[in-house]
Amino acid sequence: MTKLRKAVFPVAGLGTRFLPATKAIPKEMLTVVDKPVIQYVVDEAREAGIEHFIFVTGRNKAVIEDHFDIQVELYDTLERRGKNAVLERLHGMQPQPGQTSFTRQQEPLGLGHAVWCARELVGNEPFALLLPDMIMQSPKGCLSQMVEVFDKTGGNVVSVEECEPSQTHKYGIVGRGADVAGGFEINAMVEKPKPEDAPSNFYINGRYILQPSIFDLLAQQERGAGGEIQLTDSMLTLMEQQPFHGYHFTGRTFDCGSPEGFVEANLAFALERPDLREHVLRAVEASGRN
Ligand code: G1P
Repeated sequence: MTKLRKAVFPVAGLGTRFLPATKAIPKEMLTVVDKPVIQYVVDEAREAGIEHFIFVTGRNKAVIEDHFDIQVELYDTLERRGKNAVLERLHGMQPQPGQTSFTRQQEPLGLGHAVWCARELVGNEPFALLLPDMIMQSPKGCLSQMVEVFDKTGGNVVSVEECEPSQTHKYGIVGRGADVAGGFEINAMVEKPKPEDAPSNFYINGRYILQPSIFDLLAQQERGAGGEIQLTDSMLTLMEQQPFHGYHFTGRTFDCGSPEGFVEANLAFALERPDLREHVLRAVEASGRN
């Protein structure tokens, strides 16, 4: 079976849910504790064995490319000042030369269109797709967990989590069939259904392993919900042609595209840090008293 080597990160979105913070700064560069959101997602991909990081960007996103570059002067200064711990941390996050590619989604035509823009860079092999709005907290990364299923089932795998039944209109929702190799068969998939039309409360939490045949389907895809080219619509067709499994992720997902999810993520990741935990607990308690 072909090894999963490439990951696509669609980072062209305008971040309107997060204005005014995102007026001049891409939403992917907002920090959770002291790392930009996009760094969490790239680290998750690297942990899962990804060797090539493909970013589908848009206007005003150049700072993402800068973030993944070596800042020679900064590194020299840190070295002169003996800031070895922070230098080591920066080096650990640094993609190696040639491991990143950037392409642009020139018009905001939806997630499906953004993924299609990566077709030449992905080529004819399976790839991971990670939506940077979502970051996860778990001892083993979400994509690593999915790869364990993918190695047994091949085909396509999407990760899911449970949402409040009233929240199905925010996500792609799948119906859960029989258990298979640590995952399950998907028997329905609907983009942003009303609670009464949802096949379950299992929502796609922004992590996918897809076969390259999705690109041909996306090329022919009509505009769907919200007038956009929806990835979910092409995945529905792909489901009829190839193995397609769900994986119920073990861990917590934070939707960092919304203020609630972003604040929750900051709290959760700060509490995980031994140097911050006590301070944050005291601060939350004091704020709760006011
Ligand atoms: C997209 C997908 C949806 C998925 C969600 C996860 O929606 O279309 O299926 O559940 O990401 O964040 P968006 O958030 O771009 O509206």
